[in-house]
Amino acid sequence: MSIHPSILECRSVGKVYSAQVRGAGTLGILRGFVRRQVREHVALANIDLAVAPGEIVGLIGANGAGKTTLVKCLTGIIPASSGRCELFGHDAFALTRADKRRLSLVMGQRSQLWWDIPAIDSFRLLREIYQVDAARFERRVREQAERLDVTDRLQVQLRQLSLGERMKMEIIGAFLHDPEVVFLDEPTIGLDLLSQETIRTFLREVNRERRTTVILTSHDMADIEETCDRLVILEAGRILFDGDLVGLRRRFVGRRAVEVHLEANSRPWSAELDGELERFGAVLVREAPRALTFEVDAEHCQPFIQHLFDLFQVRDLAVERQPLENLIREIFRTGELVEAS
Ligand SMILES: Nc1ncnc2c1ncn2[C@@H]1O[C@H](COP(=O)(O)OP(=O)(O)O)[C@@H](O)[C@H]1O
Ligand SMILES: [Mg+2]
Repeated sequence: MSIHPSILECRSVGKVYSAQVRGAGTLGILRGFVRRQVREHVALANIDLAVAPGEIVGLIGANGAGKTTLVKCLTGIIPASSGRCELFGHDAFALTRADKRRLSLVMGQRSQLWWDIPAIDSFRLLREIYQVDAARFERRVREQAERLDVTDRLQVQLRQLSLGERMKMEIIGAFLHDPEVVFLDEPTIGLDLLSQETIRTFLREVNRERRTTVILTSHDMADIEETCDRLVILEAGRILFDGDLVGLRRRFVGRRAVEVHLEANSRPWSAELDGELERFGAVLVREAPRALTFEVDAEHCQPFIQHLFDLFQVRDLAVERQPLENLIREIFRTGELVEAS
């Protein structure tokens, strides 16, 4: 082992893409010969990140936040423009073949399997490439296919599989040679809920059982919430938050949002009802003439709802588990968290 406790590390990493811009029309093309205009786009700025072996880290951010760029820098597909990205203690952009075998990368749009043959045949080719022991290979394929619920799809040509089945095959392929670190770039994008759930469970289990380090990107908080221990929020190329998800969840997730729609003949909301809220520790967060939204601790949610039916003529009611995403937004707004660098 190296002296580095981190399996991967970024120090002040920046990435700037430059694109040539050209004016419109013939004149623009001619001008382009004379003076090339280059527009620079900062995709990553000052990224500091260290991941220890065995961690499962969720990298979340809106489209364009820089998630894919960061994954590409970390896996050595593209070089960083500044700073340093290290994997296994070495420059990520200059990995040896041996080090490359210690990682796997799953990208939504980019298949490592062969389109025209069944997944099982692709896996056998990968087995040759990675020289995985045959008995171990068979066992692993069987076990992983079972967990991902695609055993009966192994013999089907890849192109004939559904998006979800294909992604599961990609994931099986990525874990076959027992890499130390697996990067997955938006693995659940566009998938049905059941496939998403199966994939999340699989990743968690593999991470726990084999201590595989997992870096997962998503623009969907549910992915991160249910899969990861640690959350990194990327916004416009910068890390906004980097911290423990378990603690965050424990602190904030016990809240429910209760939305009630009132009948026309119902009494409206009025300030004298404040006392009714206090009893349940509820807070009125939004008020429209016929719609009210409250927040209440999960444990008081049920009696509170019953009480709402006593107070109002309720036409419709919805309870929502407070999505972590909202909370995070709120936390930033109030400046309560200062864990990000
Ligand atoms: N090859 C490229 N050339 C120029 N700009 C790029 C390139 N790849 C990505 N970008 C830009 O960099 C920013 C980050 O992109 P990306 O890393 O793909 O974000 P994400 O994966 O979070 O959606 C975006 O504004 C995107 O348009
Ligand atoms: Mg992306």
